[in-house]
Amino acid sequence: MEFLSGKHILVGVCGGVSAYKSAELVRVLRRAGAQVRVVMTASAGEFIGARTLQALSGEPVWQRWSDDRSGMQHIELARWAERILIAPATADRLARLAQGRADDLLGAVCLACEAPLAVAPAMNQAMWRHPATQHNVSVLHERGVQVYGPDEGEQACGDVGPGRMQEPQVLAQALADSFQHGLLAGLRVVVTAGPTREALDPVRYLSNRSSGKMGYAVATAAREAGATVELVSGPVVLPAPAGVRLQRVESAQEMLEAVLPLARASDLFISVAAVADYRPATVAPAKIKRQAADRVLALEPAADILAAVAALPTAPFCVGFAAETGDLRQNAQKKRLSKGVAMVVANLVGPGLGFETEDNALLLVWEGGQLQLEKDTKYRLAVRLIAQIAARYRLSALNVVEPHAKHSTENTR
Ligand SMILES: Cc1cc2nc3c(=O)[nH]c(=O)nc-3n(C[C@H](O)[C@H](O)[C@H](O)COP(=O)(O)O)c2cc1C
Repeated sequence: MEFLSGKHILVGVCGGVSAYKSAELVRVLRRAGAQVRVVMTASAGEFIGARTLQALSGEPVWQRWSDDRSGMQHIELARWAERILIAPATADRLARLAQGRADDLLGAVCLACEAPLAVAPAMNQAMWRHPATQHNVSVLHERGVQVYGPDEGEQACGDVGPGRMQEPQVLAQALADSFQHGLLAGLRVVVTAGPTREALDPVRYLSNRSSGKMGYAVATAAREAGATVELVSGPVVLPAPAGVRLQRVESAQEMLEAVLPLARASDLFISVAAVADYRPATVAPAKIKRQAADRVLALEPAADILAAVAALPTAPFCVGFAAETGDLRQNAQKKRLSKGVAMVVANLVGPGLGFETEDNALLLVWEGGQLQLEKDTKYRLAVRLIAQIAARYRLSALNVVEPHAKHSTENTR
């Protein structure tokens, strides 16, 4: 269940007998590394205590709109969630979802959320078989909602038949599987992330504000797309993404030396790292002492990793990131041509933008086209970016040149 690591899973709990299984579901999801928030319906409280779910999720449990803060919890939760799983989903809840009702917190979150929704129905076999329930399920199915189960067997009421909620382990595995797709199946991808550190003396260095979050999100999304991923990372405080091989380095030179052999054997190279452009011309062997006089640092160009990989005789399909403080489109195209790479992904950096933030917005430019990915979390942007890279990679592998310049904006999830 590596694909659940770090994921934001919102669990909706409804008022049914199998609500007791939600506690185990939350526990399994957390054990797999997911962050879990629980929204309970009003009647769910008659079947399971909020405190149990709070203790197991490690987060406050949401039962209704509260008066504190903005009162917009449905929007906050909807933006936070990367998947919603309603387990158990009662017959009544399926009917409400099919109608698109928002008269309680869970209903409103489901309407406001653009992330995939899954339901795990649990009810008496006759309720499940009823044409009204079956109609509601088919409406949800057509709308793209994943319906997990139900299982068949003995029921709490003594009946035997379909209507048992799937087991927590099975539901968690289905959620984990929902993060995987095969857009990059069988491909080897090298990703760089984070800043580099260029030593001045044994205790000081030149660096930048890159947190590594975008690069780690890209590595995660590439892995979820079925690729074998090598991540070469400058110094950051992030855990290694699940299923990704991670090499930690410090300087641009070390990053170059780690990347080159990997890139030679890869299909795609995605350079997200904020690699230093310059490094100190000399590294003092001992700590530089304070002096009364001004001090001027002599700098020399640091290794240009992206250009070096793009210049390899059997270069992989190269994608570079460009952190800019202005003229995004022009600078991105200029960088793409100067580095000789297939695609450049540009983002604005500055106070509250790009580095050290949770959200980002990206402009993708390639020969003959561009695409704006509107502001979103770095993980969601990475998923959409990987889909675009996969599409351009397939076209380039087929030697297809796109006929017309394309300028578009994508803001749906
Ligand atoms: C003891 C008891 C057990 C229930 N079990 C279920 C159930 O397993 N599945 C179901 O669909 N409804 C069941 N219900 C009915 C739901 O609790 C009822 O439809 C409620 O309005 C659901 O609200 P909610 O979906 O907002 O939680 C049960 C009701 C009671 C009193």
